[in-house]
Amino acid sequence: MLKDQDRIFTNIYGMQDRSLKGAMKRGHWDKTADLIALGRDEIIERMKASGLRGRGGAGFPTGLKWSFMPKQSDGRPAYLVINADESEPGTCKDREIMRHDPHTLIEGALIASFAMNANTCYIYIRGEYIREREALQAAIDECYDAGLLGKNAAKSGFDFDLYLHHGAGAYICGEETALIESLEGKKGMPRMKPPFPAMAGLYGCPTTVNNVESIAVVPTILRRGPEWFAGFGRPNNAGTKLFAISGHVNNPCVVEEAMSISFEELIEKHCGGIRGGWDNLLAVIPGGSSVPCVRGEKMRDAVMDFDYLRGELGSGLGTAAVIVMDKQTDIVKAIWRLSKFYKHESCGQCTPCREGTGWMMRVMDRLVRGEAELEEIDMLFQVTKQVEGHTICALGDAAAWPIQGLIRNFREEIEDRIKAQKAGKISAAVAAE
Ligand code: NAI
Ligand code: SF4
Repeated sequence: MLKDQDRIFTNIYGMQDRSLKGAMKRGHWDKTADLIALGRDEIIERMKASGLRGRGGAGFPTGLKWSFMPKQSDGRPAYLVINADESEPGTCKDREIMRHDPHTLIEGALIASFAMNANTCYIYIRGEYIREREALQAAIDECYDAGLLGKNAAKSGFDFDLYLHHGAGAYICGEETALIESLEGKKGMPRMKPPFPAMAGLYGCPTTVNNVESIAVVPTILRRGPEWFAGFGRPNNAGTKLFAISGHVNNPCVVEEAMSISFEELIEKHCGGIRGGWDNLLAVIPGGSSVPCVRGEKMRDAVMDFDYLRGELGSGLGTAAVIVMDKQTDIVKAIWRLSKFYKHESCGQCTPCREGTGWMMRVMDRLVRGEAELEEIDMLFQVTKQVEGHTICALGDAAAWPIQGLIRNFREEIEDRIKAQKAGKISAAVAAE
């Protein structure tokens, strides 16, 4: 278990003063100018050496992403955009940072922007996060008053402005290029990649989009050293990480832990175990709703990191939003609910996603209502394969994977359900409740 002294987020539960004074007491904003004085290349090298992989879900190496930004300005401004549009079902970790530890994010924004030669940074915050944006805006105002933002920010010689921009409730605006479109004042519709934002991002200028947690850990990594951070977790899966555990555990929580902790330890140490005990565990979605669910018995010894969950279990760490479902859960209905969500949130721009999410939801509807035939299970799987990998952005995959996980792991349960419905043992009305 991670020791308290190794936690980056020391106020994640809001037990202490979140203001600038309180943050400084906990060591934030300590000689920030000295960190900036390391220079652009050195900061990026240290971030690479830390092994930090993006905390928004995709796990792309952060230092490498920063290195894609042009070294010399070609006359265009560069931007850092922080993705605070946290909307992945089950995911609520960035919310805690912004509510209770906002200075970790603001200090990280300054250092990261300096490293990428970006004098301006936008934080795009989910529209529903009202308390969070108030906390964050108050912290930004404090920093301007204290000279930590603005001209010669934190006496570093670097001029830096930070703006908070509110989203308006669209899940797709968390996709980095849709977010950029939305920031530009347009409808949030994803762009084709490449070009990646580092080449042509906000207003066609070099831009890096990073998740809140990825940026908030930067100052501590630089203060304590990249080797300190790299010392947690298995190779290629370094660091400490916020896990958001919800569902049928005794104490749902957000907790910072070392990467590669076992699922059992995570649940026993921080959540008081599974509701009704381990024998009652049915399924887990280990990384937010976009990754496939896994059968409970395979999860107990699972290593909670990117490579294990993808390589060994065919799922993923995603946003580390761990959704636990016990045997009282109707798993078919749970995944049907996700299908409805993705259908609703599809921006409709590309055909496989626009049409495919509708098809998938309608077949899932039939499964839940008891109107499906057994052959439709394979047909549904085929539809997910037509969508996966054939869309402009990852929402198509995200809609397909939970259903694939359901069919791979719970085929027998789906078949039993169809048979029971046909035999009149479950009425359609009950199934659809
Ligand atoms: P991605 O793998 O396409 O990209 C990840 C990042 O790496 C992006 O910033 C991208 O620009 C960069 N990148 C990738 N390949 C690159 C290359 N060759 N050159 C330059 N840059 C490159 O994944 P994406 O679509 O950004 O994110 C998908 C993930 O987002 C999902 O796995 C899901 O877990 C997560 N997600 C998180 C949500 C949240 O609320 N935090 C909401 C929805 C999805
Ligand atoms: Fe829009 Fe879906 Fe295509 Fe993404 S995959 S661009 S959400 S239609």
